[in-house]
Amino acid sequence: MTLLKPRVLRFESLPSTNTELARLASEGAAEGLAIVADEQTAGRGRLQRTWSSPKGAGLYFSILLRPGIPQEHWPLITFMAALAVGDALQEGSGLETDIKWPNDLLSGERKICGILAEAIETPNGKAVILGIGINLTDEAFPAELTNVATSVAEALGRTPAREAILDALLRALSRWYSLLSESGGREKIVASWSARSSYAMGKAVQVSNGDEMWQGITSGVEPDGALRLRTESGEIKLVRAGDVSVRSSN
Ligand code: BTN
Repeated sequence: MTLLKPRVLRFESLPSTNTELARLASEGAAEGLAIVADEQTAGRGRLQRTWSSPKGAGLYFSILLRPGIPQEHWPLITFMAALAVGDALQEGSGLETDIKWPNDLLSGERKICGILAEAIETPNGKAVILGIGINLTDEAFPAELTNVATSVAEALGRTPAREAILDALLRALSRWYSLLSESGGREKIVASWSARSSYAMGKAVQVSNGDEMWQGITSGVEPDGALRLRTESGEIKLVRAGDVSVRSSN
């Protein structure tokens, strides 16, 4: 069993907790090293997007993983991270969330947390920088995103305690990460993810990967985390990268 022993470094301000942790990883930092910053000046999101990170408005967190599992299973790292954030929000603030494939946490159909896992080469082997950004208050995201983003404060009607969520996140990550390397653990992760995601089955969605767009009904996830999409022709398309959105009815 892989035991994760998180050790947290705190910063007032960083360009990006992922970038700083990648630098420390390349100098040989051990698995479990984690970084929290009060603000990020160059926060990064998936698909080369920026991640708005004003001071005190979000939890900006990264943790270094050196997974001892075959690389073909690494896509499930973001699944286990989404499960851990779901637990952390529940335990740390009482908020129930949904998961949108592959790893956005939603509250009331709006995004409350994003996850960015980056695989890097280091002198001690390949590693993963797992970055997590949780919107604690509405100041975390620009006003023009109000229709697609939300925060823990908005969902609960009170400002959440960042430290309680962070403590719960460290515990939850340790639990779910251990499972990843246990016999039968990957199946449990995929099953738990599917049970917690309203997007796993029967949702009318469109998926875009930047170049192409597909429409269909979600039809579960593969053991490696790929989303199964049943298109209008009845064909099952396996989606491994892209953005999923609920299909508008017109
Ligand atoms: C997404 O696009 O949904 C992923 C957003 C990930 C943001 C987090 S905040 C902490 C860490 N540092 C970064 O620069 N990005 C991640």
